[in-house]
Amino acid sequence: MSSASHKYEILCLGIETSCDETSLALVGDGKLLGHVLASQTDLHAIFGGVVPELASREHYRFIGPLFNELLDRCQIELTDLNYVAVARGPGLLGSLLVGVAFAKALALALNINILAINHLQAHILAAGLENTLHFPALALLVSGGHTNIYRINRLPNFEQLGRTIDDAAGEAFDKVGNILGFSYPAGRLFDQAASLGQPTINFTLPYLHNDNLDFSFSGLKTAATLSIKENLSSFVWEKPIKDPTQLPKDVLNFCASFNLAIAKTIKAKLERALDRNLTIEHLILAGGVAANSCLRQELTEIAKKRGLKLLIPSPLFCTDNGAMIAYAGFEFAKMGLVNSLEFKAIPRGQRIPNDYLFCNKQS
Ligand code: KG4
Ligand code: ZN
Repeated sequence: MSSASHKYEILCLGIETSCDETSLALVGDGKLLGHVLASQTDLHAIFGGVVPELASREHYRFIGPLFNELLDRCQIELTDLNYVAVARGPGLLGSLLVGVAFAKALALALNINILAINHLQAHILAAGLENTLHFPALALLVSGGHTNIYRINRLPNFEQLGRTIDDAAGEAFDKVGNILGFSYPAGRLFDQAASLGQPTINFTLPYLHNDNLDFSFSGLKTAATLSIKENLSSFVWEKPIKDPTQLPKDVLNFCASFNLAIAKTIKAKLERALDRNLTIEHLILAGGVAANSCLRQELTEIAKKRGLKLLIPSPLFCTDNGAMIAYAGFEFAKMGLVNSLEFKAIPRGQRIPNDYLFCNKQS
């Protein structure tokens, strides 16, 4: 095997195992060299959501072979690596531990630097895989578990300005989608269905009559559930939904209405955040729901109106992936940051410390 790594000052392996995707990637001096991913979506779809115990076992099964495949594909030798970055949380603890244990073992065996990456920050930094990042930036992270707004003046500091107080936007898509008969996770097919319909139902945009930057989608979810019972119960369609083009027009219109309500709500809070943060250069949209076409369109309009540069990762890098972890690792490594081997994996709901150390050691 020929080695290409002499070209890279920072050659960072990224490992993502926080939920149900096992994914690894290599970033050399900021450039993505390759990425591999094993998705467990089909397995968990049988249960209607992620089963933590199964997720950990699948990560444990896939991580070794994926690592070998990545090195092979990128023509990189094991000993060429000088950084390993791993998602340390938030996520499912058992799943995180598989990636973290693998990363720590590599760091110990190869005597290389390790970086413990906040999965949420990595989603945002994924925008750097295809663009040059400029700070200060405002970032909207919309995923299955989070709907957060951050201000980033400079790395590695992320100031959280707003968050969801109950369901996240992705969770709302998944739960309402589940009632309609979309298999888990519903977001992508829901989005497709929405783009085939017209927004005919006027859902009240939730949690706007306040002056904060937080979100609440549980009321909208209840309103949507009632609307399905009242207006769609007389229709029959095949479940689980595989092809949205076959859905009755009223179902497509419902999807368009719900999707628009989510996108307009997020847009309203983001406009409020931008009014309070006028020195922003870049607006970043990240996380699984950033793949949503309606949301992308609403944010494109905001950015155009305000003369801001909008960065959205390609759909492949919006959902969980190892490339975003490797890229975040590269950004922090560039600043001379590392972690000690004692760092902990942090499950969802707990605060993640910024416990980077300064060190310029590179093997
Ligand atoms: O960021 P992500 O891959 O995992 C988490 O960290 O949560 O996000 C997954 C979420 C799921 O809720 C999924 O339904 C949603 O992203 N999603 C979408 C779309 N693609 C994925 N939601 C709306 N529209 C989409 N196109
Ligand atoms: Zn994620």
